[in-house]
Amino acid sequence: MSHDDYPTDRPAVVTCGLPYANGDLHIGHLRGYIGADAFNRALKTLGQQSAYVCGSDMHGTPVAVNAEEEGVEPEAFALRWHEQYEETFPQFAVDFDNYGHTHDETNTETTQDIVLTLEEEGHIYEKEIQVAYDPDADQYLPDRYVEGTCPYCGAKARGDECDEGCQRHLEPGEVEDPHSSITGNPAEYRERTHKFFRVSDFEAYLTEFLDDLEGTSNARNQPRQWIEDGLQDWCITRDMDWGIDYPGEGAEDLVLYVWVDAPIEYISSTKQYTARVGADEYDWEDVWKDEGEIVHVIGRDIIQHHTIFWPAMLEGAGYNAPRAVAATGFITIDGKGLSTSRNRAIWAREYLEEGFHPDLLRYYLTTTGGLQQDVDFTWTAFQEKVNGELVGTVGNFWYRSLLFAYRNYEGTPEAEVSGEVESRINGAIEEVREAVNDYSLRGVGHAAVRLAQFGNEYIQRNEPWKLTDDEPDEAAQVIRDCVQLAKAVGVLLEPIAPGKAQALWEQLGEEGEVADAHLAEALEAPPRHFDEPGELFEKIEDDRVDELEEKLEAKIEAAAEDASETESDETDEGEADDMAATDDLEPLLEDRISFEEFQDLDIRVGRIEAAEGIDGADDLARLEVDIGFETRQVVAGIKRLHDLEELPGTKCILLANMEPAELFGVESNGMILAAGEQADLLTTHGDAELGEKVR
Ligand code: MF3
Ligand code: ZN
Repeated sequence: MSHDDYPTDRPAVVTCGLPYANGDLHIGHLRGYIGADAFNRALKTLGQQSAYVCGSDMHGTPVAVNAEEEGVEPEAFALRWHEQYEETFPQFAVDFDNYGHTHDETNTETTQDIVLTLEEEGHIYEKEIQVAYDPDADQYLPDRYVEGTCPYCGAKARGDECDEGCQRHLEPGEVEDPHSSITGNPAEYRERTHKFFRVSDFEAYLTEFLDDLEGTSNARNQPRQWIEDGLQDWCITRDMDWGIDYPGEGAEDLVLYVWVDAPIEYISSTKQYTARVGADEYDWEDVWKDEGEIVHVIGRDIIQHHTIFWPAMLEGAGYNAPRAVAATGFITIDGKGLSTSRNRAIWAREYLEEGFHPDLLRYYLTTTGGLQQDVDFTWTAFQEKVNGELVGTVGNFWYRSLLFAYRNYEGTPEAEVSGEVESRINGAIEEVREAVNDYSLRGVGHAAVRLAQFGNEYIQRNEPWKLTDDEPDEAAQVIRDCVQLAKAVGVLLEPIAPGKAQALWEQLGEEGEVADAHLAEALEAPPRHFDEPGELFEKIEDDRVDELEEKLEAKIEAAAEDASETESDETDEGEADDMAATDDLEPLLEDRISFEEFQDLDIRVGRIEAAEGIDGADDLARLEVDIGFETRQVVAGIKRLHDLEELPGTKCILLANMEPAELFGVESNGMILAAGEQADLLTTHGDAELGEKVR
């Protein structure tokens, strides 16, 4: 790995967390796969040699438990999902250079080889531990076969992960109050000999590794805390049949823990890519053994695996270290946590069946928030973004430029691009380069969309339609500029919207694939002639959105009804309610902020003096809030949640230094604080005066 800016002269590999081969793909998965795909494409536009690899995660209890529920063998079960994923990813233009799976020969061999090396190097030892066991089911209870309470944060947890709370990895025996997920029995314990990886050997190494690590700040900072708390050794074997056999001495009846062989698939998948294209074109060893650039895109729930266990394994077995770990936030749906069991999800298949182009979702998911922020999906927000940015800005600019050029010049007019436009395009190229080096996909998308916005202003400002008759040279110049800008927007937007960028490419009469174009091609002239263009983006109508929102609500309700029917049959109501509560809560953020950062928020006690609706806005209310020093006008999304007439006189809490915004033509100068979906307004319970600071 180097720390030179991209593009470097070493090959890169981009990976994303392997999907467990155990169920349908949804928008939460897609965020990661699309993000990593866009990042890989963006690296290539910079001229960086790069491959994008992944594979299905076939082993472990996530697969075994679900296969058992269906009454099928885990291998057949996992292969079926694997095949489905192979078909689904290309439909979202997620273009893997290799997509393998963890149960194939390459990965079995690579994994066993790495484990043997770790053993030879003295990093693995044997220890007797107490393993959870279910006497009725007559089996050991690794990982997801056991449920209990997280010893760190008290959330409901699985045997090996605190999936609903602090997201920590849990070692066998750590979960408190363990119960069998097969029978519900309290787990018994039996003594077993297991293999451990001495992670503590790597403390100094990992500390340095984290100092150099690039990517998102959550992935760089959280692990420091875990190291400070003291690194625990890692149990790498399990009492199961399904998995890769432990290759060393002893432990003949154990398989490797799924988290050992899963990341190794990153290497195996790269090997398979090399086997296909030849080492002259792309050599996996340059990347994994030598000094190539390894970039992992993952969900923020698996940071510990990628910043502690995995780099320690790589170092211990003599491999190269990752350069970056970019950990994405979660997806929420209509403000609530995505939940597959509650059907509060947008499934990959569902999205496609609605007939939307994949690029629309790609654009939404990559540019709505920064990579590490949680992103909320609502059909309304999707519509707004598509209609505003893709239809209104990009599509509009593309179509009007190409149409004008076609009608007046049958293609690209013969003129030179102006200095102003050339330097504006160069500026956008620079923005993309910086965004890629910051691991910011949003930055890439914005650079492209802002360039289109500049194009629209440029047409407006120069009014070429007024020039064609009297000032033909000037008209040709302006349109020449617009055609160049249109092409540049296409080249820049390709990582995020590859399908639409390719369609534009073809409209311009360009040969080959825009995906192969480097950023510099944004400045090269398109062909002299092209055909009549068509519009590339289509507006999403309001009634379509209403319909989609209704469908979503209906399917969530149906799932809730199903659940309550089975719950009253099978389980204790209290427990079901508790689960409902945690499932709907947004997960706690792991990232801590400093006291100084908190102090940047100027939060004051206020009193609502007036409240009224805003014409044309279903949800918004205009409030006047007295904060002692002055009265602020604030727009709040509470119109349907509160009786506006009752609000005047109510004490509230106002974030006073929120940047001003304009909504439906009304300026909002602060933000009132409220909790949850129903916008329960925050207030004070003593006699704090108006204008007093909340601290
Ligand atoms: N299947 C795991 C999950 O969904 C991710 C595995 S990522 C890898 O949480 F690093 F192990 F490859
Ligand atoms: Zn926890």
